Amino acid sequence: MGCGAGAFLYPLAEAGVRVGGLDRSSAQLALASRAIPDGEFVVGDALDLAPEPAADVVLSMSTFIYFPSLDYAARVVSAMVSRATRAVAVLDVADAARRGEDLRRRIRAAGGEAAYARRYAGLEHLYYDRAWMTALLEESGLTDVRCETQSMEGYGNAPFRFNCWGFVP
Ligand SMILES: C[S@@+](CC[C@H](N)C(=O)[O-])C[C@H]1O[C@@H](n2cnc3c(N)ncnc32)[C@H](O)[C@@H]1O
Repeated sequence: MGCGAGAFLYPLAEAGVRVGGLDRSSAQLALASRAIPDGEFVVGDALDLAPEPAADVVLSMSTFIYFPSLDYAARVVSAMVSRATRAVAVLDVADAARRGEDLRRRIRAAGGEAAYARRYAGLEHLYYDRAWMTALLEESGLTDVRCETQSMEGYGNAPFRFNCWGFVP
């Protein structure tokens, strides 16, 4: 869900996993189709994710940050759970507990507040509380739900993001 150009899916496809993705950007999906010709890609909004065909694992990586509201995010999680037969993962979620620090470093990296506002106009990040996300996945029917701090070598955003996942009973 929100697969973009397929960076996350590519190594899975290379390992022989059958993959597919939905994204609202047809330009990104054109790149994904070129990189993964066997992948099944659909242009659409996250809320358009259909329950069929079922998939073992439904996941999103670095996409929930762009959602307009927590209510929208909750509806997307519900759609993801409806489609999954084994597990659902919501990865690289902006951590509300570190919002201030994250914003300060992003503004610094952009070269100040004005430059930051120009560069990221319309791309404001939505931050999530871990307890809220944990409860949402549990209330959506998943079991063994866990949320952990992102850990990815060389990825500067990692300390400010977390990953959550759970299993379809
Ligand atoms: C940072 S990219 C991540 C792409 C991919 N998941 C990866 O890890 O390589 C975020 C993607 O989410 C997509 N996206 C953001 N909001 C979306 C929405 N509401 N519905 C569908 N796609 C969305 C964007 O078009 C973009 O391709």
